[in-house]
Amino acid sequence: MPAIVLLGAQWGDEGKGKVTDLLGERVDYVVRYSGGNNAGHTVITPDGQKYALHLMPSGALSPTAMIVIGNGVVVDPKVLLAEIDGLNERGVDTSRLRISGDAHLIMPHHRALDRVVERYLGSARIGTTGRGIGPAYGDKVARMGIRVQDLLDPGILRQKLELVLREKNQMLFKVYNRKALDVDAVVAEYLEYAERLRPYIAETRAMLWDALDRGETVLMEGAQATMLDMDHGTYPFVTSSNPTSGGACVGTGVPPTSITRVIGVSKAYTTRVGSGPFPTELFDDAGQHLRKIGGEYGVTTGRERRCGWFDAVVARYAARLNGITDLVVTKLDVLSGFEKVPICVAYEIDGRRVDDMPMSQTAFHHARPVYEELDGWWEDIGKVRSFEELPAAAQRYVERIEQLCGTRVSVIGVGPGREENVVRHDLLGG
Ligand code: GDP
Ligand code: IMO
Ligand code: MG
Repeated sequence: MPAIVLLGAQWGDEGKGKVTDLLGERVDYVVRYSGGNNAGHTVITPDGQKYALHLMPSGALSPTAMIVIGNGVVVDPKVLLAEIDGLNERGVDTSRLRISGDAHLIMPHHRALDRVVERYLGSARIGTTGRGIGPAYGDKVARMGIRVQDLLDPGILRQKLELVLREKNQMLFKVYNRKALDVDAVVAEYLEYAERLRPYIAETRAMLWDALDRGETVLMEGAQATMLDMDHGTYPFVTSSNPTSGGACVGTGVPPTSITRVIGVSKAYTTRVGSGPFPTELFDDAGQHLRKIGGEYGVTTGRERRCGWFDAVVARYAARLNGITDLVVTKLDVLSGFEKVPICVAYEIDGRRVDDMPMSQTAFHHARPVYEELDGWWEDIGKVRSFEELPAAAQRYVERIEQLCGTRVSVIGVGPGREENVVRHDLLGG
């Protein structure tokens, strides 16, 4: 009865979509457990088709797996329906989708507040995706949220919206000088979504328990990443949910005792979108090169991703925090062509060497990378499919990552396509 967690080990965009897609045909369920359409997961199928998924689990592109949006996700129904339509137009069947009735809805006031609060924060802004994620989770925690199941009861939907807009409209109008939202218009809009979403809404918890009882495989697909976690990331420069492995249980209802494997996905270097500390960030030609060769532009917002070297302090932290059993290192191909490839093995903070994640935010902001310089390689490795075929220096680089993280590297990405990997250990095998 294996439940498997797949999550980002850095600051997002590690290639989770590609790895989920890789496993899609061999698992029975793919479940998104946190975040919303702040995520952008790129999948390139073997026929060369490129998909950018935001709310749909990346298992959508394998024809067999059931796909589930768990209770921990925040759902913008307009975005989800547009995504369903877009996939259907391209011949992808979405009838296998189920959405938890307990998932919270992103409402128009969440999107409006996300944007306006960021503007008011000025230089202290988080650099959010502007999709209403933080305000939606904020209302969930404040017990003012509106859930997917409320779409099925027009009376309750109106009642909850009237209540919440009593406060939010005051905020929008009086504090932020924005137009108040009209209850009737929002109810009418959301009831239209309700009609279309009705067939997908289900009690997904029990569905997953039954699947696990039958011995089926449930893959829980993370969005965002460890360092963007509300509790364990670089707060306040984080997202408003728990992308770490504990969040997979909370966001799906799958019990921790069912989890047999935790797959951490990490790039062979590091990227970050939005504000916040990033010790190995590069501001020189090397950073520009990584951005250009790695195509480091956001899937959701198109923003340039900040680029830097691999940070083993972060990777070790992610491995211990999530209980990572298998690491997937993506984009090793992007590192071809550097004379030396540095790995950050520790930080220097206010004159002292620190080997692990520091306790305080201030210390992390002061962290300077301590680098170990490994030899680079020049060969194009895009066609390599076995570890032994990799240039010796690339092998040493991967082995050093394993040593520093204390976790085996089971798969190495050498290109964006589903098949462009070196598989050292089967992610679903022993
Ligand atoms: P996610 O949010 O974690 O799913 O990652 P994104 O899709 O936002 O960003 C990862 C990007 O890297 C996408 O454009 C992928 O197509 C691409 N990618 C994934 N793995 C590899 C790899 O091994 N090599 C190369 N060159 N690109 C990769
Ligand atoms: P995937 O799943 C990278 C970042 C935003 C911002 C912070 C908070 O594709 O890896 P939010 O809109 O969530 O309130 O923004 O989190 N962020 C991501 N960065 N990849 C993502 O998702 C992200 N989702 C949110 O840039 O810094
Ligand atoms: Mg992404």
